[in-house]
Amino acid sequence: MRYPAAMRLSDCHAIADFRRLAKRRLPWPVFDYIDGGADDEATLARNTAAFASADLVPNVLAGVAEIDTSVTILGRRSALPLILSPTALQRVFHWQGERAVARAAEKFGLWCGISSLATVSIEEIGALISSPKLFQLYVHKDKGLNAALIQRARAAKFDALALTVDSIVSGNRQRCARSGFTSPPRLTPSSALSYAIKPRWALDYLLREKFRLPNLDSHTTQGTGEPITIANYFNQVLDPTLTWQTAEQIRQDWGGPFVLKGIMSVADARRAVEIGADAIMVSNHGGRQLDGSRAPFDALPEIADAVGGQIEIIADGGIRRGTHILKSLAAGATCTSGGRLYLYALAAAGQPGVERALGLLKAEVERGMRLMGAKTVADLTRDQLRWR
Ligand code: LAC
Repeated sequence: MRYPAAMRLSDCHAIADFRRLAKRRLPWPVFDYIDGGADDEATLARNTAAFASADLVPNVLAGVAEIDTSVTILGRRSALPLILSPTALQRVFHWQGERAVARAAEKFGLWCGISSLATVSIEEIGALISSPKLFQLYVHKDKGLNAALIQRARAAKFDALALTVDSIVSGNRQRCARSGFTSPPRLTPSSALSYAIKPRWALDYLLREKFRLPNLDSHTTQGTGEPITIANYFNQVLDPTLTWQTAEQIRQDWGGPFVLKGIMSVADARRAVEIGADAIMVSNHGGRQLDGSRAPFDALPEIADAVGGQIEIIADGGIRRGTHILKSLAAGATCTSGGRLYLYALAAAGQPGVERALGLLKAEVERGMRLMGAKTVADLTRDQLRWR
């Protein structure tokens, strides 16, 4: 494929194109933080490659002039079977940060996730959008901070809480180790030039609103005032004693729709049902934690066979195409979710970028459903998928 030397947003026709544009616009330590995975990045690669191990089987002559791409997720209607996964530090990728992503999600009628490590406050997002939103909780050693986060998400009328359970220690993110990436970003001798040669990013970062982690900074200066690597954040600030008992307690403290984010085994999916979780995100944290672990799409059939119908199943990770969404639904997911699929677009062009990416995915889902002969999301079943 040929890309123009001065690539623009209008040159982006697939998620891979936003990635390319983001790479041109971001200093490499920032790009590598988004793009990278753990160790050899085998799991990162498999997350998307797994979709090629099964093929769609279309049904024709199905009368698909009118189709309905919507689905109910945790009691709220979503225009597409896609959630924008919570991701950290969005203001570093583009000065519009979470505000751009939340507004784009609302415009498309989608759920969006807000991270504990968001650069906009829980309260501001609560007031900004009326579309469904989930708050992603990391459990910190500081119990007062955990209680405050849950209370703030409830007060701001978040629709669900997603407890991340796959980050008990940090994955070995070698690209970050090489670049010295920290939150907030800090110039190191090896990365200084990369910031200097991306002046547009550098000026936006330096001259616009100051970087903060407003959901954490009343309790800790690490990550906001004092630069810290994400690995050290996980390893020093988060609570490694987290157990199923803690998860159940958090579900009770929250009292609303509750999601476990980062379930990869049938046994854990069953346990999630037992503790009363409303949904699981089948996720390996975008290949950023345990390298060598399975792809969500590979794990879906057995998890769906075990707990489908008892708990909602959100297939998270690797999605770059509408057909990846359709394959996940056919394999048994309630819906899908993804982070990089909108982060590249955010980094490439702010809110217009995210809107263009979501518009492309929406068109891909609609086109794909028509070509599959599926009038509704429920029409996509295992009969329409064959593993090679
Ligand atoms: C990450 C965390 C912060 O994957 O979610 O970088």
